[in-house]
Amino acid sequence: MEVYLDNSATTRPFPEIIDLMDRVQREMYGNPSSLHEKGVAAEQLLGKARRSLASFFRDREKEIIFTSGGTEANNLAVIGTALRHCRRGKHLITSAVEHPSVLNCFRFLAGEGFRASYIPVDKNGTLDLDELERAVDEDTILVSIMHVNNEMGAIQPLQEIGPVIKKRNPAALLHVDAVQSLAKLPLPVDLWQADLVSCSAHKIHGPRGTGCLWFREGTLLQPLLYGGNQEIGLRPGTENTPAIAGFGLAISLMDEKLSKMENGLMELKLVFLEHLQDSGIHFAVNGPSPVEGAPHILNLSFPGLKAEVLLHGLEERGIYVSSGSACHSRRPEPSHVLAALGLEGEKLDSALRFSLSVENTLAEVKEAAAATAAAVRELAAFLKI
Ligand SMILES: Cc1ncc(COP(=O)(O)O)c(C=O)c1O
Repeated sequence: MEVYLDNSATTRPFPEIIDLMDRVQREMYGNPSSLHEKGVAAEQLLGKARRSLASFFRDREKEIIFTSGGTEANNLAVIGTALRHCRRGKHLITSAVEHPSVLNCFRFLAGEGFRASYIPVDKNGTLDLDELERAVDEDTILVSIMHVNNEMGAIQPLQEIGPVIKKRNPAALLHVDAVQSLAKLPLPVDLWQADLVSCSAHKIHGPRGTGCLWFREGTLLQPLLYGGNQEIGLRPGTENTPAIAGFGLAISLMDEKLSKMENGLMELKLVFLEHLQDSGIHFAVNGPSPVEGAPHILNLSFPGLKAEVLLHGLEERGIYVSSGSACHSRRPEPSHVLAALGLEGEKLDSALRFSLSVENTLAEVKEAAAATAAAVRELAAFLKI
């Protein structure tokens, strides 16, 4: 049996999406900017995808900019805001547990004369609201906080974060990285008082290399690329029509497949955990308590074992998981996210992320728990611990 539990790294594209993208490449290959019927057909595909995406926000198509993924959406939001608003202020705020596509933009901007503040989180991964309130000042132009953390699933209280920021400085913009939550949790941008939200297609069974940035109408950004007038000049370049059409379809299919799941994501996560607990092996949950975290992400430490060795032990049993986040799991450094929770030593070295999707089943999570327990026992016996 093969059980893929690395869905926060990427997901398997739905077959319907592969079929649609194939058809678009073969038959609807016009340039959306062309005036003839092939161009119009391609433009209509973009419009349809834009409407599907907009339905997650405020139903305004003109508030969606298609990008090459979550990384580019984050870069456009953070650097685009900094460059456009630098005359108003030079202060930027983010959290200690953001994705590298946000953190490295902050590092770049810090080198360009901006002041960057990194707000800590508690052991559950939740942002320190008092620290945030103290950090926002008249010079603050942007606060960038993720919705769901990709490594340990903490959900940030954006409905409290937004008002704290806007009360201190109504002109400061709020950017939310919603790459891990799109189509899984509601994105109430008005309640959050958010101005910019980043999304990615490949975390929801869509194609890799496509995403979007939602921006509240009137939010001013500096483009990072210069060229034609595609995406209102904020993201020039001939649109990746097959992938964007696939992104739009992924959104509607996620909705349908989530509602048809026999056992919801949270139920699958809790059953997995329960079976691991019943197996009697020694492990600890990192980050939020399982019921408070995102329904699809679970980070566990197996003290005494090395994450990478266990990962390969699981792979031999057909179970695919991540150590840290896939984006930097090839780097030997420990995860900055788990370190920000206060994890150290054996707990830090032995952390694995199990991440679920609509395609996982109850039988699979039970199988994965049994295989994990067996792999842990085998390694522990070998190491005599
Ligand atoms: C929270 C978060 N933000 C941004 C990204 C980057 O998205 P993409 O892979 O589409 O560039 C990821 C991908 O892992 C992520 O998990």
